[in-house]
Amino acid sequence: MGSKKKHTPKSADKPKGQQNGQSRHSDNGLKTEKKGSPPTSAQSKGQQRDKSSSCSKIWLLVAFLSVMTVGIAVVVVSPSAQSAFVTTYKTYGHEYMLQAAEYLSLDVSEFDKWIMGLTSGDQPQGANSEDPSTQTQKASPTEPRHDVQKDDGQIKNVENGSSGSTQHIQTKSVETSSGTQQESSVQKDVGIRQSNSERHDKANSVVDASSEKPIVQDIKVTTSGGDKATDSLEKDVKPLKTPRDSYAKSSITNNDDYIIRKSLDDADSLLERGVLDEALKKYDTIIATHPASPRAHSGKADTLDKMAEKQRSNELLEQSINMYSQLLNFAHVPDDLMKTTARRLADRQQFRGWGQQSAKTMKFLVDRFPDDIALQRELGVSYLMAGQNAEAKQVFSKILERYQTDGFAMVHLGFIYQTSDNDPATAIPLLQAGIESDAPGTQDGRFYFHLGSALQRQGRMAEAHKLYERGANKGLFLSADQRSLYNVNTLTGRPWWTVEQTGYQRYIKLLEDNWQVIREEGLSQLNSETGDFRPEDENLRETGEWKQLTLYAQGRKRSKICAKVPKTCGLIDQIEPANSCRRGQVKFSVMHPGVHVWPHCGPTNCRIRAHLGLVVPEGPRIRVINETRTWQEGKFILFDDSFEHEVWHDGKSVRMVLIVDFWHPELTELQRQSLTPI
Ligand code: OGA
Ligand code: MN
Repeated sequence: MGSKKKHTPKSADKPKGQQNGQSRHSDNGLKTEKKGSPPTSAQSKGQQRDKSSSCSKIWLLVAFLSVMTVGIAVVVVSPSAQSAFVTTYKTYGHEYMLQAAEYLSLDVSEFDKWIMGLTSGDQPQGANSEDPSTQTQKASPTEPRHDVQKDDGQIKNVENGSSGSTQHIQTKSVETSSGTQQESSVQKDVGIRQSNSERHDKANSVVDASSEKPIVQDIKVTTSGGDKATDSLEKDVKPLKTPRDSYAKSSITNNDDYIIRKSLDDADSLLERGVLDEALKKYDTIIATHPASPRAHSGKADTLDKMAEKQRSNELLEQSINMYSQLLNFAHVPDDLMKTTARRLADRQQFRGWGQQSAKTMKFLVDRFPDDIALQRELGVSYLMAGQNAEAKQVFSKILERYQTDGFAMVHLGFIYQTSDNDPATAIPLLQAGIESDAPGTQDGRFYFHLGSALQRQGRMAEAHKLYERGANKGLFLSADQRSLYNVNTLTGRPWWTVEQTGYQRYIKLLEDNWQVIREEGLSQLNSETGDFRPEDENLRETGEWKQLTLYAQGRKRSKICAKVPKTCGLIDQIEPANSCRRGQVKFSVMHPGVHVWPHCGPTNCRIRAHLGLVVPEGPRIRVINETRTWQEGKFILFDDSFEHEVWHDGKSVRMVLIVDFWHPELTELQRQSLTPI
């Protein structure tokens, strides 16, 4: 009990209608049963209360008056009076007592603290703590469970939207021609594919404000309906319609927060109006006296989150993540608030590049609400985005055990079988049934993309083509033949390009003039034991050995690699549309005899892919749509790899080329700067 300092003004926590002396008792929240109608079993408890209500109300008044006349310290109330009061309290419930206190014009917040003191065994932790020392103690369960480990955040270059696309999944790929009005799902995509260090990196901010994508955004919250605050006391009054129920934020407000709802609503309103500094102060003030208030914590976290977005600050984002995390460990968080909070936390962790942590958050939520199928689906996607495909597979399989026709689970499971297990036979029926279900989330280019690919790999070409046509008609692909998923829709698309069509003649000439130097450097890495060539790992090959050495990716030079091939990088450094091409790479590609690369499409139509022949024996060839060509030493071939292409090497010795991606020449400077990296 201790000091009597009021932390909320008397009127602050009253429902509006009660502030100006309107009848309160008639609206005490315990009068819902119609006279004469038989009680349902659920109602009978409340009905019994009503029968004895007048007697108890008198008792209640007496209890109050006797207590309050000697001050709220209650020191003179005998233990037996206290225990009688507690009995009344437990019989009538928290709401009723509050109403009574208001009726008596007692300070509700003080009353509440007092009663918490008497009944603390039933109450949320910290709710009755006035003494700062106990506050600290009570607040301790809210210590951050912030054992976040930094994921590597590395995102593979995506050749075909497959292995890298486990990170892309559930993002949408339609981009407008201007690149300035991308859909929100694309905005989300920013978060998924940016690397850790640049989440809020000002240096990375786009130039044109109109093309800025929100750094963070709200996530949709689905509720399972009927979820209410779970406090045991609330259960006591559940069948009864109380003012509490008609309170707009009832479903996210526990009993303690209900008492201080006015303060919380005021702070929320500051937040909604974007007065962030004030909102933060207000939440902090509430937290100082109510360290266990779920709403104050979530409000503070939301405020920090908004500040992070505004200031593009990772530090603030991490503070907000920390706040959200704390809330998960609170006792007595209403279900709706728990779901909203944990979902938002998972979203922000994902955005920050902490995919595994994000999946952990979703797992926590699923464990808490095991019957919520929507959460299970989200968990599966989180695992996919964290690269934990085995876990994702388990989650989606489990959903399907219970709900055999869940289209969402089917397409995702099929996706995993195709992209990480390389098992088209299992993937096909799942992807097909999932797409046919037409369930939300199933009509995504990725599922059409990989179903078609699986069909092609099974030799079912006609079916694949039909599906691609269908995807194109749905607007998921630019055309059946051009199936990239990250597109600027107005760009000229043609499978093969001439040098003149690109306008990049001088750059092409610069590299062709120096092709032998480039070849020497490429070969030196191939021959060296310490060479950094890496096997193609995007599940594109049917057979053979195919390796690459990447010098630039996403418009960034790889300095360590470049140190080994300095002349080549020195040349590329002079070629702005290639070295700045954030939707492409520059790499040596070495292909051994016996390779067959499955038909595939690159991820974006924003680049023109140029191959400079360096070592070209007889035998290798590349098909882009319906025209097959080969390489020549010292010469470029240029194509748009968003169109379907396929490669064979039927020769007798290795083939080496330098692959240089140039920005599509029709992209404006602004677009080049603002498009998200791939
Ligand atoms: C490509 C591709 C294979 C090769 O550049 O998109 O598939 O020949 N190339 O290296
Ligand atoms: Mn390719």
